[in-house]
Amino acid sequence: MRGEQKMENAIRNYEDVDSWKTVIFLYNSALKEVGTKLEILNDEFQHVHQYNPIEHIKTRIKTPESIVKKLKRYGFETSIENMVRHINDIAGVRLICSFTSDIYRLAEMIGNQSDLRVLSIKDYIKNPKESGYKSYHMLVSVPIYLSDSVVDTKVEIQIRTIAMDFWASLEHKIYYKFEGRAPEFISQDLQECAQMVAELDDKMLSLNEAIQACLADEPDPGVVEAVAENIIGNARDQKTLQILRKAE
Ligand code: GTP
Ligand code: MG
Repeated sequence: MRGEQKMENAIRNYEDVDSWKTVIFLYNSALKEVGTKLEILNDEFQHVHQYNPIEHIKTRIKTPESIVKKLKRYGFETSIENMVRHINDIAGVRLICSFTSDIYRLAEMIGNQSDLRVLSIKDYIKNPKESGYKSYHMLVSVPIYLSDSVVDTKVEIQIRTIAMDFWASLEHKIYYKFEGRAPEFISQDLQECAQMVAELDDKMLSLNEAIQACLADEPDPGVVEAVAENIIGNARDQKTLQILRKAE
């Protein structure tokens, strides 16, 4: 009988195969499932609203080195079981959007997917981190259908704007460069940049809203064409009248 199971049990079922390879296979499958799902949602949105909420999608599997490092940081022994239980971002998807409003639109669409289970949400846009980090995080679990079982697999989805992503990638580089102990003036400058990013995002959003409002006010192109034809037609009639009058 086909039953849902946790990753820990799925590993035990594969005793004859290297369990590291098994978990990585499951996380890769989960990335494919979630990636395809998001592409479909984006395409559907384009189809209905002629607009793409996702600028681009990045997926990645955490490297063995960072998995081990994180387990140590959390105070757990290095084991496959601890890794699948305690590390939530082994499979990660990053969605980059143009506007903050797209982030919440996407989060809602993801929440509405009946085959995805939302395990937790962290809104670092409403509550930015001390560093200035902003992003919307969703931890979801996706069922992976194998030949004789279904395994629920965790995927961390990070949703952010292009500007937030720009900031986060620079901050990440600096953080690694200084191993978390960056000089005060650098941290200060980064926080200022975070503020500028927030202002830029707000401004771009209101600019886009203004553009949309202008487009909505504009008359239908079909109507414009008909009016133009009418004017040209009128002008032609006037000219004909003038010629006829002259001929009289
Ligand atoms: P870890 O921070 O990964 O140990 O787990 P957590 O449970 O604290 O999750 P959190 O949601 O805080 O962070 C998960 C991921 O978000 C990280 O692995 C990073 O990719 C990203 N992130 C969180 N905070 C920052 C930050 O201050 N700067 C940058 N650049 N990225 C961050
Ligand atoms: Mg963290």
